[in-house]
Amino acid sequence: MEHHHHSPAETDSAAMAELLDLDAEVMHSYLSEVTAWVEALGPPCRRILDVGSGTGAGTLALAQRFTGAEVIAVDLSENLLGRLRDKARDRGVADRIRTVQANLDAAWPAVDTVDLVWASNSLHHMADPGRVLSEVFATLRPGGLLALAEMDSFPRFLPDDLGIGRPGLEARCNAAVAGARAEALPHIGSDWASRLRQAGFTVEAERTFAIDLTPPLPPSAGRYAQASLRRVRSRMDGRIDVGDLATLDALIDDDGPDSVLRREDLTVRDTRTVWAARRR
Ligand SMILES: C[S@@+](CC[C@H](N)C(=O)[O-])C[C@H]1O[C@@H](n2cnc3c(N)ncnc32)[C@H](O)[C@@H]1O
Repeated sequence: MEHHHHSPAETDSAAMAELLDLDAEVMHSYLSEVTAWVEALGPPCRRILDVGSGTGAGTLALAQRFTGAEVIAVDLSENLLGRLRDKARDRGVADRIRTVQANLDAAWPAVDTVDLVWASNSLHHMADPGRVLSEVFATLRPGGLLALAEMDSFPRFLPDDLGIGRPGLEARCNAAVAGARAEALPHIGSDWASRLRQAGFTVEAERTFAIDLTPPLPPSAGRYAQASLRRVRSRMDGRIDVGDLATLDALIDDDGPDSVLRREDLTVRDTRTVWAARRR
C-alpha cells in the first residue's frame, strides 16, 4: 500500500472539506428552505454565481432549485473546487456547473453578468468585504439579487450537563472560539445590511433561519458534530483548562464511550441570517 505524507495544511484542508460536506448534508432542509425563499423573491435565473463556494453546499442546492440555470462556483481552494466537481458529476448536474479558482482578495475573476449571487459564510473571510460587495454589484444585472448568508454563532450540539467533566463545556468552548475568531476574522458579525447599502444595494429582506435538529438524528449529525468539535479543539490549547480539554478529547474520539458519534442526546442548533439585496 502506498504511504501518503500529509502536510498540516493538507490535513487541515481535508478536514475543512469534510466539515463543509457534512454541513451541507446536515443542513439540507435549511438549504432547501432558503433557496425556495430566494426563488420566490428572485428574478428569472439563467446564470448564478456562488462566491466562496467551498465544496458546493450552495452551488448544488441552487442547481437543484433553478433547473434551467448555470452555476459558477468561485473559491480560493482548488482542492475544495475539485470536490465540488466530483459531487456535481455524481448528481448529474456537472454540465450546468463551472468552477473558477480565484483569490477574491487579489482580483475579481472575469465572469459574465449574472442574475443571482449567493455568498454563504464567505464574505467574513475576505480582507475587504466592501470591495468584494462592489464587485458583486457590478457583476449582477440590474434587477438581479444577492443572497448573503452568515452564521450568527457557532453551532451547538451538546446538553449543558454531559455526564462527564464540568457542566457548561460547550458554552466555554464557544466563548473561546468567538474570541479566537474575532481576532482572526475581524469582519465576522459586521453590520451587513449597511455594508450592502454602501455597495449600492437595496436591502429587500433580512431573514433568520433557526436550525434545531433533535434526536433521533442520522449518523451524519454525529460526524458533523465530531468534525466541528475537532476544529474547535484545534484552537483550544491555552484557552480552556486541562479538565475541559480532556472532556473535549473524549467527545471527539472515534471509539471512546463518550464519543459524539455515540451520544443519543446530540442536537444541532444554529441560526443563520440571510440578507436579500437587489441591484435596482
Ligand atoms: C466557511 S467556507 C463556506 C463555504 C460555502 N459557501 C458553504 O456555505 O458551505 C468559506 C469559503 O470561502 C473561501 N474563501 C476564503 N477566502 C477567500 C478568498 N480570498 N477568495 C476566494 N475564496 C475564499 C474558502 O476557501 C472557503 O471555501
